[in-house]
Amino acid sequence: MVERETPTPAIEALRRPISHVWFGGDYNPEQWPEAVLLEDIDLMQQAAVNTATVGVFSWAALEPQPGEYDFGWLDAALDRLHSAGVKVILATPTASPPPWFSRLHPEALPVTPDGVRLIHGSRDTYNPAAPAYRDAARRITRVLAERYGDHPALAMWHLHNEYGTVSYGPVTDVAATWNTAFWSQVYSSWEDIHAPQRTQYIPNPAHLLDFKRFSSDMLLRCLRDQLEIVREVTPGVPTTTNFMLPTWHHYDEWDFARELDVVTIDHYPEDGPSGDAQVAFAADLARSFAGGRPWLLMEQATSLVYDYAGGRMLAKAPGRMRRNTYQYLARGSFGSLFFQWRAPRVGAEFFHSAMVPHVGPDSRIFREIRDLGAELAGVPELSAGPIEGRVVESRTAIVWDSTAWWATETRMLPSADVAYLPALRRVHEALWRSGVTADFVDPNGDPSQYDLVLVPSMIAVSDSQREAFDRFVANGGHLAVWYLSGSTDEHLRVREGSYSAAFAELAGVRVEEHAPLRDGQNLTLSEGTCASAWSEVLHVRGAEVVASYGADAPAVIAPGSAAITRNVRGSGVVHYFSTRVEGDDLQRHLARIVADAGIEAAVLPDGVEHVVRRTKTGALRIFINHTERAQTVRATGRNVLSNTDVDGDVAVAAGDVLIVRIETSPEGSRK
Ligand code: GLA
Repeated sequence: MVERETPTPAIEALRRPISHVWFGGDYNPEQWPEAVLLEDIDLMQQAAVNTATVGVFSWAALEPQPGEYDFGWLDAALDRLHSAGVKVILATPTASPPPWFSRLHPEALPVTPDGVRLIHGSRDTYNPAAPAYRDAARRITRVLAERYGDHPALAMWHLHNEYGTVSYGPVTDVAATWNTAFWSQVYSSWEDIHAPQRTQYIPNPAHLLDFKRFSSDMLLRCLRDQLEIVREVTPGVPTTTNFMLPTWHHYDEWDFARELDVVTIDHYPEDGPSGDAQVAFAADLARSFAGGRPWLLMEQATSLVYDYAGGRMLAKAPGRMRRNTYQYLARGSFGSLFFQWRAPRVGAEFFHSAMVPHVGPDSRIFREIRDLGAELAGVPELSAGPIEGRVVESRTAIVWDSTAWWATETRMLPSADVAYLPALRRVHEALWRSGVTADFVDPNGDPSQYDLVLVPSMIAVSDSQREAFDRFVANGGHLAVWYLSGSTDEHLRVREGSYSAAFAELAGVRVEEHAPLRDGQNLTLSEGTCASAWSEVLHVRGAEVVASYGADAPAVIAPGSAAITRNVRGSGVVHYFSTRVEGDDLQRHLARIVADAGIEAAVLPDGVEHVVRRTKTGALRIFINHTERAQTVRATGRNVLSNTDVDGDVAVAAGDVLIVRIETSPEGSRK
């Protein structure tokens, strides 16, 4: 979690412009004629829209020639929205420099790992390290801040859009700790050092990792450029930039979040039940990046978005948009914004879904939007706050570590099967299915507010991080660690003496050998757990054995040797998994670990999500039924959607949501 003082003046400011759940979407008035713009206002009012995100990619419309501005359309749009009571999140358009910029500054175009300089024609065609780009971005930011800083519709600055462009070109060449005593890579001159473009054979993993860190810092520098300007010109107007979760990973979110007043995310979940788990995953991440404070869902889609791998756009089932929206709100969002208000007729995203589809308001999608808008207007407690402390209490946290993600993307780890995001999602989903709400914790932050910290796939652990984990356990914390974690230091230098060395002593084990499994190979552990992907020659050094390998393990592993262990260290406990465990088996093991840590999981029917969200005056107990049949839950208090009291067993219809107002949060905090 990000440490913050509460409440910051900027968060307080959020309450003033919009006292309800923020509802609306990305709005591109520059794409439409007057008649459509007038209809937009009418439809926004029908749908109880109170927020519009304007100007995200409008640089060419705002500055058609260098230094020549056209503000007429934006002035008119902001005034029109203001008179309709719609607040504006005004974007700086810097994610899409105009064509003239690329013509004048070809050196500021991004370069691929193959050394190809990309040309204009899409969006995000810029190199964040290029001085000309930074100068132009600063200029347009200042011009917008000075012109619209006092506009009564302005609710928040939306700086850039989904920072994430990476360039391997000459202006990005740098140096750092690359472990070069290998394959004659000792550099003797700065001129010999390049960004890791495609090379003859396998590149140096530490070079790749360092380049990821460098790119993250370049993007952060661009964000800071803009923050400095809007904070100088419009002090008190909250700031954000939208994170693209959880598939993009071009910067360290903890670093970014520390700079912002409000954390916002864009989220496009996958199809099927795992998509619901993914919504909870992204929302818990967003809340954690926000330091436990309310955050904002900046973009979701009314239907599913283009699946680039599968090459198709699937439809969201009726009701799913509402159900997912309540998941985000339950987990701390103070709004539900969409990409986008009106479906465009042209451009790369011409078939992307919208609140107003191409067929117009006489459509299932617009009706669902209108009903959702009306319903959310009736639950003002789900708005921003102010709330002191955390909006959702959790005693369990999963470490979210950018270094680990980037490290697992470098080639030549012992198995291709160690992808970072799936490892985290497996653990989060198992907790979610068990009714345990998890936070994520910064690997350089303070885990001491949690009872249980889970460390899946954190390959690179620095000495100071290792000491923090030691302290956490010494103070009675429970830790669960998965294979490969702590096997190297932060520069990908393998730690010696044992694999997972940073945790081995703490876990009471020694990992002598890695034994990755074949694709599709499953093992059955002593107590029936199904294991896959990875195994290890694991010796216990004080730990108790929870599950051991059988005769089906790779030949280097003696049947009967430890696979999953538990080690008591004073008042703390450390669990170690030397193999991959998924699904129901993982849920069962995590239930054991959660109970061991003294954390009570909510007792729920399968497929029902439950979160207690704190509000200014008390708390809301929120149940979301993801199944296709009615489910019964237990609750006492006011049902805020039906305005009736409930006490005891309550039926929640298939795909429906129950929100019960309770007086205080029943979840205790740690220790
Ligand atoms: C992102 C962007 C939007 C749009 C959507 C498409 O989140 O911010 O501009 O491209 O994706 O789903």
